[in-house]
Amino acid sequence: MADPKKLYIRTYGCQMNVYDSERMAEAMGGAGYVGTDRPEEADMILLNTCHIREKAAEKVYSELGRLRSLKADNPDLKIGVAGCVAQAEGEEIMRRQPLVDLVVGPQSYHRLPQMEARVRAGETALDTDFPADDKFDTLRHRPKAKRGPTAFLTVQEGCDKFCAFCVVPYTRGSEVSRPASRVLEEARDLVERGVREITLLGQNVNAYHGAGEGGDWSLARLIWALDDIDGLERIRFTTSHPNDMTDDLIAAHGACAKLMPYLHLPVQSGSDRILKRMNRKHTAEGYIRLIERIRAARPDILISGDFITGFPEETEDDFQATLDLIEAVGYGQAFSFKYSTRPGTPAAERGQVDEDVKADRLHRLQDLITRQQRAVQDAMVGRTVGVLFEKPGRLPGQMVGKSDHLHAVHVADAGLGAGDLAQVEIVESGANSLAGRIVA
Ligand code: SAH
Ligand code: SF4
Ligand code: F3S
Repeated sequence: MADPKKLYIRTYGCQMNVYDSERMAEAMGGAGYVGTDRPEEADMILLNTCHIREKAAEKVYSELGRLRSLKADNPDLKIGVAGCVAQAEGEEIMRRQPLVDLVVGPQSYHRLPQMEARVRAGETALDTDFPADDKFDTLRHRPKAKRGPTAFLTVQEGCDKFCAFCVVPYTRGSEVSRPASRVLEEARDLVERGVREITLLGQNVNAYHGAGEGGDWSLARLIWALDDIDGLERIRFTTSHPNDMTDDLIAAHGACAKLMPYLHLPVQSGSDRILKRMNRKHTAEGYIRLIERIRAARPDILISGDFITGFPEETEDDFQATLDLIEAVGYGQAFSFKYSTRPGTPAAERGQVDEDVKADRLHRLQDLITRQQRAVQDAMVGRTVGVLFEKPGRLPGQMVGKSDHLHAVHVADAGLGAGDLAQVEIVESGANSLAGRIVA
């Protein structure tokens, strides 16, 4: 038998791309490929790309430039671009970089093996359709291999919200939810292979409305069904939109022991004027009230957010309102970005804020968030929390894992292995992680 061909995938962007890269590797496994982490020995290289900000999208072209020498050394090497840049700029990529053999959008990954056969025959292949069939349904070459203790599981894809700055509704298409039975089947399979924590993924995961027994299921209903799976210890979900935080989901945070006390709930701005221009369809006050209701259900929940500074027409007063909102909420974690103009989105046409103003605001916002994050982390000292251990630490005998609140925690000489879940008393708060000791 011939040696298997080797596939190297480089993943950019969000967790959904991480999940998709795993599925692409499985689909190509069915076509005789094994994975490699060394691009120089690959027969095929796939870049799974992100289009969310200009910098992310431009990375693809510089990476393709670097791959030129590999292709010179190995003329049989095939190079493909997948993900959101592929969707947004498919034909342009082929024009700008003739070394690209294959372009595949996020909804067409199940067609990769056929596309591979075409490029092997010396053609190029481009597929950026939004087919009606479930791409995950045909991606079933799942090897029964053992897995690490945590996994992502996409349950919903696409977005109908059309925030004025965002490319996702164009790159991922409209909202689609996978049927509950498929999600549960995949979750059981993951647990059989050693997974103890599943993070449910969706661009708008809390808008989930997958077909299930007795009609469409909400995300809360799905979480309660996952709660019944023996061996699955932890459930998380991301990313949520404030307007889809339904009562049953808030209640689940208070009642479902496996649902972890961490919620990523982006707000982007604290100014009602800007929120309106962003087409977020909620106010700052509405968001703060929502956080209060969530905290009433689960008082120790850690709140995480996303922020954009320098959205078109943002004034210093608008920005101050964002800082005020951050003060009011108290974030344990946050991701913040300078507004990046995205071609084809409504905000791209509006009055832009100077780069140095965007940068200055980002800096001030991150200062505040860093202080809050640190305070939330320091407040963990003295508390006992669950930790799921994932891998050895830098010191001999040390293990590191994630707490219920998603803090990195390390424990010395605990005699633990990856996949062990233990109650840990937090004894110290460091720069980026907590130190703890196992309690009985
Ligand atoms: N679906 C998620 C997030 C999608 S993108 C949600 O609705 O929250 C992740 C984050 O990237 C966004 O929350 C936003 O903060 C940021 N982002 C999206 N488009 C951006 C742009 N044009 N410029 C800067 N940041 C952007
Ligand atoms: Fe983008 Fe808004 Fe949809 Fe999130 S909700 S993916 S920010 S359009
Ligand atoms: Fe990027 Fe696409 Fe995810 S644009 S953030 S990879 S949905």
